Amino acid sequence: MFGKRPGGGAEVAARPKAAAPPMPAGSKPGAVPPPATRGAPPPQVAPPIVVDSRSEQYYEIKTTIFNALIDTIDLAQLAQLDAESAREEIRDIVNEIIAIKNVVMSIAEQEQLLQDICNDVLGYGPLEPLLARDDIADIMVNGAERVFIEVAGKVQLTNIRFRDNAQLMNICQRIVSQIGRRVDESSPICDARLPDGSRVNVIAPPLSIDGPALTIRKFKKDKLKMDDLVRFGSISKEGAMVLNVIGNSRCNVLISGGTGSGKTTLLNTMTAFIEIDERVITCEDAAELQLQQPHVVRLETRPPNLEGAGEITMRDLVKNCLRMRPERIIVGEVRGPEAFDLLQAMNTGHDGSMGTLHSNSPREALQRLESMITMGGYNLPSKTIREMIVGAIDVVIQAARLRDGSRRITHITEVIGLEGEVVITQDLFLYEITGEDETGKVKGRHMSTGIARPAFWERARYYGREKELADALEAAADK
Ligand SMILES: Nc1ncnc2c1ncn2[C@@H]1O[C@H](COP(=O)(O)OP(=O)(O)OP(=O)(O)O)[C@@H](O)[C@H]1O
Ligand SMILES: [Mg+2]
Repeated sequence: MFGKRPGGGAEVAARPKAAAPPMPAGSKPGAVPPPATRGAPPPQVAPPIVVDSRSEQYYEIKTTIFNALIDTIDLAQLAQLDAESAREEIRDIVNEIIAIKNVVMSIAEQEQLLQDICNDVLGYGPLEPLLARDDIADIMVNGAERVFIEVAGKVQLTNIRFRDNAQLMNICQRIVSQIGRRVDESSPICDARLPDGSRVNVIAPPLSIDGPALTIRKFKKDKLKMDDLVRFGSISKEGAMVLNVIGNSRCNVLISGGTGSGKTTLLNTMTAFIEIDERVITCEDAAELQLQQPHVVRLETRPPNLEGAGEITMRDLVKNCLRMRPERIIVGEVRGPEAFDLLQAMNTGHDGSMGTLHSNSPREALQRLESMITMGGYNLPSKTIREMIVGAIDVVIQAARLRDGSRRITHITEVIGLEGEVVITQDLFLYEITGEDETGKVKGRHMSTGIARPAFWERARYYGREKELADALEAAADK
């Protein structure tokens, strides 16, 4: 909905509704935009941005020296050395090769060459300069020739290249072998993590047709805080206060959004509202959350080993959590049958639990929860599942990445109850798109829908936060 540029004119991200229309049973979640018409002129591709300023000539020299190095060096022996000694060893040999081949280079170029060769032999090769940058959110490698990055919400093609697909595959292998996995024709899909915590996915040929595809979600050391989200305009000041009250008064929260829309970031910021003395257990596929509280147990799923055994699923973790006396359970991403266990936990006194889920609207998020439970093989009537959902989830927060690359919280929606078999929701805050400025940036505003007494009012009162809630809602309504 937000990813594509529609025909033109101002449009509304979402319109306020006093009570949203009933959840149509079996309706198709999320309208998919029609595919681009065949025969239309190919879209203009922006030229690659220059991330790497080395010349073609430099690369020719590097290839010559690299090949000579590989002929000389015993890679198996090199692997035995620690990183520093290996670097020294490479430095000595490279200097020798430069002298023998009579290559003319400045000291700075020589240092650069040495650094690059060490990166190729010991590290992540051409990826290293990208990994070193903290402003990059994602690195997407589509075969040796095309490396894209996402910076400030914009995806850009770079001029970084791998020598060939074999080098790229080698680097993928190096990444996944660090966590004891392997990627090749027989097991061509692999999730891994870099030592800095970045999340990695590799899919290799023959599944990926044009060479290995490597996707890295860079780990941000300085996680965004709610103040940052307000500063970026992702949420208004009043909206942030309402989220603060929601987190603090232990509402059960579902964060919904598309890929890369900022769900995990939002979940992380919401965890800041957890009291310091609460026992929190987090379950994730790859540990991304950074909770500041002292009483946190972090759990991570485990993929099966090469023989296909030993898998620990998200469901196993969530189930085990319940035996660990948690006060709150945080699930990084709900995508399967663990939805049932999370809802059960939420329904049985683990108030303030949270999770994220891939979906395009709060309504669709609730539908997806229902289908995850149905597909998990639980033989429950749909009314019972909906009762569970309504009893468990208090608030759905929707995150979206808009067409200009900016991330916004587009809905704060309450789950009110069930009328017949229909889940009733109520929007508290919505983001309305009003237009676009001359640079293509989306203009819009967060607005309250005028609800002065949300359903979690009593809960906020119980935790002594009703004044802040009332003030925030009133201030938002006046805007
Ligand atoms: N409100 C925001 N403003 C600017 N950047 C943001 C915002 N929220 C998230 N980001 C950045 O966007 C990137 C993706 O965020 P995040 O990992 O939270 O998304 P996600 O929805 O969890 O993605 P995935 O679906 O892949 O798990 C990160 O680099 C993060 O720092
Ligand atoms: Mg995420």
